[in-house]
Amino acid sequence: MMAEPVLTIRGVTKHFGAVKALTDVDFTLERGEVHALCGENGAGKSTLMNIIAGVLQPNEGEIRIDGKAVRISSPAAAQSLGIGLVHQEIALCPDATVAENMFMAATNRRRAPVMNYRALERDAQAVMNRLAAIDVRRKVADLPISSQQLVEIAKALTLDCRVLILDEPTAALTETEAQQLFSIIRDLKANGISIIYISHRMAEIFSLCDRVTVFRDGRYVCTDRIADVTPDDVVRRMVGREITQLYPDKLGADEMSGETILEVDGIGDGARFHDVSFRLRKGEILGIGGLIGSGRTEIAEGICGLRPRTAGAVRLHGQARPIRVYSDAVKAGIVYLSEDRKGSGVFLEMSIAQNISVLDLKVFTNRAGLLNGRAEAALAEDFARRLAVRMGGIEAPVKSLSGGNQQKVAIAKQLAVKPKVILMDEPTRGIDVGAKTEIHRLLRELARSGIGIVVISSEMPELLGLCDRLLVVREGRIAGELGPEEMSEEAVIRLASGMGTARAADHAA
Ligand SMILES: Nc1ncnc2c1ncn2[C@@H]1O[C@H](COP(=O)(O)OP(=O)(O)OP(=O)(O)O)[C@@H](O)[C@H]1O
Ligand SMILES: [Mg+2]
Repeated sequence: MMAEPVLTIRGVTKHFGAVKALTDVDFTLERGEVHALCGENGAGKSTLMNIIAGVLQPNEGEIRIDGKAVRISSPAAAQSLGIGLVHQEIALCPDATVAENMFMAATNRRRAPVMNYRALERDAQAVMNRLAAIDVRRKVADLPISSQQLVEIAKALTLDCRVLILDEPTAALTETEAQQLFSIIRDLKANGISIIYISHRMAEIFSLCDRVTVFRDGRYVCTDRIADVTPDDVVRRMVGREITQLYPDKLGADEMSGETILEVDGIGDGARFHDVSFRLRKGEILGIGGLIGSGRTEIAEGICGLRPRTAGAVRLHGQARPIRVYSDAVKAGIVYLSEDRKGSGVFLEMSIAQNISVLDLKVFTNRAGLLNGRAEAALAEDFARRLAVRMGGIEAPVKSLSGGNQQKVAIAKQLAVKPKVILMDEPTRGIDVGAKTEIHRLLRELARSGIGIVVISSEMPELLGLCDRLLVVREGRIAGELGPEEMSEEAVIRLASGMGTARAADHAA
């Protein structure tokens, strides 16, 4: 007889008011397997994981651990059953240290009457060292998001769980950090630990996982052994249709206009980026590649007043724009989509409609200073439809949306200002394949209509597939520019890591 699965989910249903997040879903996890859970944004993946981890209670259905029915009434109950969850959203205490954040989970289990701080710090460092060289005495607020994501993972590793759930753990990690995580996952698996792995990245799933389960619209679709399916099969089952063309057509050589929209001339902040110059031409999508931490985000922040500049100038349609604070940039027509959705992308407590119109309040404010709710609603409806936001309604708070759908609202919020230039930092992070295609189409449409688009991305296929021209940043400087003919993964990596030479960015062109 086969051993009982570690975890069995039968007929689980979960509603949030009128929204049916899960309908009668099944799922089984075998001992020592890495099991991928796939589905579009809003398919119900995180909801099921929150149920397994005791964060949410199902309306119906059964959970069995080792064949025995259990009720997982709280996160502490999940922990005592040996279930650990790394949440999709980073939820650390920013003012506490890394070690303190890591203990917070572990103290539930230790039940030590007096905490020996030094010993805990030592233990925390030992766990952290398996992942990355981050000093656990540092304050979380001082760490970049990739490190914060690693702290979330390290926190779960302190729990000694039998079932470890990772909900999009690599979304904010560098390639090296992700590889380190994969080797830990393989170790855990070898020790009989069972892992549920959620990701929108097929390559990761196919190199790491044993089986894959697909959800669509809150329903169970199928479970297969990875060896028996292809990435295309999985994607087709996720979206319920064939995805034909992954990227929209690029600009033809004859469509490339000489007209410059944005000109960045020798900007620097004296610390994180230096002497950055480039031009953004009408109609094109300009990509910015480079390693995480290379200064790409800082450059974007420097352009739009979110970070003080010590040198250089920004011109829009040939006119110098003295941008000192972000509102100057918005007034000039330059907006920035932050890579950190939770920190500065959206207001979680506010409704979808309020979020979409927040940057451009004056358009919706009548003379009496009152918000024009109807205009706000119409605009929000329009963008929500174009970006296919999966939601109960535009009055719902953004925090009730799935991670990927929150990201779509963050994009809509920027587009609603009708910008002349939009700088997007990791615009499709956490967005499923189908919605990604839609967003790429929309960006191409916007570029054709004359809006300048700059895309910072760590995803190589996105840079190469979407952009007409690439700048590669290394150590705060533009290491080189790649035109349509020179663009390749290898060329980007060479420039990003300082191995190669390509022509310098053409400020003169
Ligand atoms: N607290 C909540 N209140 C209302 N609706 C919610 C809540 N949490 C989730 N939902 C809804 O449940 C559905 C499933 O969301 P869930 O977060 O599970 O999706 P997901 O598969 O994890 O998507 P993603 O890939 O974007 O992370 C969505 O339609 C979402 O809007
Ligand atoms: Mg999710």
